[in-house]
Amino acid sequence: MDFLKIIKNQRKESTKESWSGSFIDYLKLLQEDSTVTKLAARRLVDAIESYGVESLDEADPRCRKLFDSDKLRTYKYFRDDFYGHERVIAKLMRFLKSASLKGEESRQVLLLMGPVGSGKSALADAVKKALEKAAEPVYHLEGCPVREEPLHLLPRSLRGQFEELLGVHIEGDLCPVCRFKLMNEFNGEYEKFPVVRSSFSQRARRGIAVVPPMDANSQDVSSLIGSEDISKLDKYSEDDPRVLNLNGAFNVGNRGVVEFVEIFKNEIEFLHTILTATQEKQVPTPGKNSMLYFDGVIISHCNESEWNRFKSEHTNEAILDRVVKIEVPYVLELTQEMKIYDKMIRKSDFKAHLAPHTIKVAAMFSVMSRLRQSQKCDLLTKMKIYDGQEVVEKGRTKKVDIKDLRDEAKHEGMDGISTRFITKAIDSALTDSDKNFITPMRVVEALIKQVKEQIVDEDKKKAYLEILQKTIREEYLKMLEGEIAKAFVTAYEEQAQSLFDNYMDNAEAYTTKQKMKDRVTSEERAPDERFLQSIEEQIGITGSARDGFRADVTAFMFAKMRRGQKVDYRSYEPLKEAIESYLIASVKDMARIVTKSKSRDNEQQKKYSEMVNTMVNDYGYTPESAEEIITFASNNLWRDS
Ligand SMILES: Nc1ncnc2c1ncn2[C@@H]1O[C@H](COP(=O)(O)OP(=O)(O)O)[C@@H](O)[C@H]1O
Ligand SMILES: [Mg+2]
Repeated sequence: MDFLKIIKNQRKESTKESWSGSFIDYLKLLQEDSTVTKLAARRLVDAIESYGVESLDEADPRCRKLFDSDKLRTYKYFRDDFYGHERVIAKLMRFLKSASLKGEESRQVLLLMGPVGSGKSALADAVKKALEKAAEPVYHLEGCPVREEPLHLLPRSLRGQFEELLGVHIEGDLCPVCRFKLMNEFNGEYEKFPVVRSSFSQRARRGIAVVPPMDANSQDVSSLIGSEDISKLDKYSEDDPRVLNLNGAFNVGNRGVVEFVEIFKNEIEFLHTILTATQEKQVPTPGKNSMLYFDGVIISHCNESEWNRFKSEHTNEAILDRVVKIEVPYVLELTQEMKIYDKMIRKSDFKAHLAPHTIKVAAMFSVMSRLRQSQKCDLLTKMKIYDGQEVVEKGRTKKVDIKDLRDEAKHEGMDGISTRFITKAIDSALTDSDKNFITPMRVVEALIKQVKEQIVDEDKKKAYLEILQKTIREEYLKMLEGEIAKAFVTAYEEQAQSLFDNYMDNAEAYTTKQKMKDRVTSEERAPDERFLQSIEEQIGITGSARDGFRADVTAFMFAKMRRGQKVDYRSYEPLKEAIESYLIASVKDMARIVTKSKSRDNEQQKKYSEMVNTMVNDYGYTPESAEEIITFASNNLWRDS
């Protein structure tokens, strides 16, 4: 490997990209492309939108079921890192866009408010990164501590003319450092002032500034607006720009982003600079110098109790008036929540095998812990409906409107178990185990332990333990029962499909009061009532409910076929459940015997190995995790029979 070559190539590339010229050269550049001078918010929006904007497709079931067919705009830039945050991101982008159009938002602070671990910092990071990755460079006056826009050189008297010539809008005045340089080095001939091209970097403090929360003692406004170099004060007078150290957050973040991390952990006096920065687009300079023009997007975040405390102080009204709050709740969609953990695990050094459903039970817990109890259905059902799943009850898809559920619980998603709580439990499940795989029960155990240790509120603790020890446990056993039985049914799909075909033939004949023609012998016979019932009773359809169910199924399938859609055993959720549970019941005894028995005869051993194979090859277990799961199942399933 030729290291030197790589290094030299890179250097050549980067010098090729750099640009420098005089103010006149910059004006020529603007003549070709006036967007070069865009303000921070515009730059940010363009950077994010350059990845592509889509609107949530109406054909997408998520859009229809969960977003009320609201054609939400989604941004590709965020898509690979954020899940279930479409609404939050749409609000964030709406803010940035109005700011970029110089609406009221251009004079406001964006505040992300939500519970711990809801993704506030991650969102702010993503926004900052968009600037770092932006393809478009930023031009500024050479040597300017705040990397200011070169057009600031133009005297007021000429601005109108240049605005017209270039089709741009010019705002802001020259900073004291550049003004001094202009007078002393260039004799006021601003056309000669050199301009350079640059990029954004948080690490190098170019255009991106982060203000961490500071305690009362270490809070110093100089971290926001810079300071005076005391050692130079004996050489220069106090209003001489040469004493200025313009390295505060508003200096660094000029033309880009200033982020206030957990903003209300700071004393309010500390934040007053925000007022002038937003109202006047100016920040004070240290000492006796004039105000400094500031153009940047101010992003901050906080949790709800901090927000409430802040809001209740009427002395904070001035700042409150400058804040646009966007709530960042936890994700309440199970499938999306699962993607978060998938992502976190993918990005970590975590190498162990996760048995199927491990992430799912963990996500079920966090989502359910965040939901409010409803009068309309139980917590598990609510979770499923929020996830867009169909819930079958008494042979029918449960008709609970997601909008009603949401209206009933306005504040949902602002409390409950955090993403970090879950990842910690996954970690400790692995550490506590001597094996290199994790199963759902191990995660549930780790979660139970963590709840007992860490949740202080007794009511919450009780509710969480109930979710883990009862709801999730039962639901997981149900999933497992189905899965293991499926592994026993040879050619499961074909069998299910053939049951479906058979059921439909019979149900149709029954409903239309006709005889059936045997497919093979062409003999006519009455619909097979016993068969129909044996399927229906799986989902509790008995007595007078049968006629209705058969009519519904037949009508449903006909309607589908008329629309040219394919029908199969999965088409109608209640019937699918009935068929699956029929199949599962048919192998239940065998499953019990084969999994339970300590000593298996040849035939049983063969069945057992086949089942393990299916679990490994089709479901994604390893032989070890399959073994452990089967042992768990045989100890906990089929106890009544
Ligand atoms: N909706 C989401 N999509 C993707 N990742 C998320 C989501 N919500 C939280 N996270 C992840 O959870 C972790 C904690 O989020 P963080 O931004 O630090 O939370 P906060 O600042 O709100 O306390 C991060 O790794 C973040 O990426
Ligand atoms: Mg944070």
